[in-house]
Amino acid sequence: MKMLKSALVAGFALLAAGASQAQEVVKIGLIAPMTGPQAASGRQMVAGAQLYMALNGNKVGGKTIQLIVRDDQGTADITRRIAQELIVNEKVAVISGFGLTPLAMAVGPVITQSKVPAVIMVAGTSSIVGTSPYFARASFTLPQNTFPVAEWAAKNGMKNVVTLVSDYGPGIDAMNTFKKTFEAAGGKILDQLKAPLESPDFAPFLQRAKDLKPDAVFLFVPAPQAGALMKQVVDRGLTQAGIKIIGTGDVTDDDQLNGMGDGVIGMITSYNYSSAHDSPENKNFVAEFRKANPQMRPNVMGVSGYDGIHLIYEALKKTNGNTDGTALINAMKGASWVSPRGPMSIDPETRDVVQNIYVRRVEKRDGELHNIEFDLFKNVKDPK
Ligand code: DHB
Repeated sequence: MKMLKSALVAGFALLAAGASQAQEVVKIGLIAPMTGPQAASGRQMVAGAQLYMALNGNKVGGKTIQLIVRDDQGTADITRRIAQELIVNEKVAVISGFGLTPLAMAVGPVITQSKVPAVIMVAGTSSIVGTSPYFARASFTLPQNTFPVAEWAAKNGMKNVVTLVSDYGPGIDAMNTFKKTFEAAGGKILDQLKAPLESPDFAPFLQRAKDLKPDAVFLFVPAPQAGALMKQVVDRGLTQAGIKIIGTGDVTDDDQLNGMGDGVIGMITSYNYSSAHDSPENKNFVAEFRKANPQMRPNVMGVSGYDGIHLIYEALKKTNGNTDGTALINAMKGASWVSPRGPMSIDPETRDVVQNIYVRRVEKRDGELHNIEFDLFKNVKDPK
């Protein structure tokens, strides 16, 4: 009887220990533009992150995960202030999000000083991850997403190209990568146009591009501006003038593509994700995403939110729930998994994303526009 009683007590003690450990909360901060011009990216990131948690539960490494979403309105000063608040007051183990390059850049010094990892879910300028040893990237880099379409253009008879990009980090990366790749393949750049990020009036730039009579115009703008850009491209009749429209997949954003109209059919882009990607993982992801968000089609930001949380979960599993920032960032290095986008990993040296990049054509299938993948570059690192 006495033995039974002590066994019971020991059993209860074990149960209680287990329960209190599971109740120990690990907080993940997600800083996203939920209002302002980049809100479309914020909505996708948050939907992807929440979907991952809904499908995979909130218990990892013996801890309970809590996601704290904060709106930075797409303004770098606010991103930095929120990052500090989340780290100091909320004691988050990891921060994530960053819907624009300058927003990620703004938190570099904060995470370096506090040794709290930050997982990038959008910002695509190559240099960002090098600015702090606590950055890891789950999205893409512009050089990675640009060179395949430059090769495609050179291989498909295009000799003269005009590039038009947003005048900030990712646009400059795209512009330089396109030029380097296209010229190495024998092509010529007729002009490198840069439109200010703040004013999405592309008309004068598109007119200039048209007047130069290139074989193709290469485009990059941040995805939330894609609808405005493509409306102006179609209105200006570039395709009718015999100019091929090419770009990174940001400009044929999956969430806005149907609203762009049939004028974008035939556009060629290269990118790391299409919602039409043909795999069981993606079919399941798209179906679940649409069930949870009937008004939205998942795009690259949605899948990066999903994969970003996966990366954090995998790191917490590896550390057994230890939330030390240096242990967590080390656990992210070399992580690899099959994403809805295809296989991906985190380069252990650079903490940057390694993934397949696809060349795609806009096509109409079952009454909807899609980016249909037709060529593949495997396991692409950021070509620094
Ligand atoms: C960035 C933002 C985007 O919306 C996008 O599509 C690509 C890059 C950026 O600011 O890095």
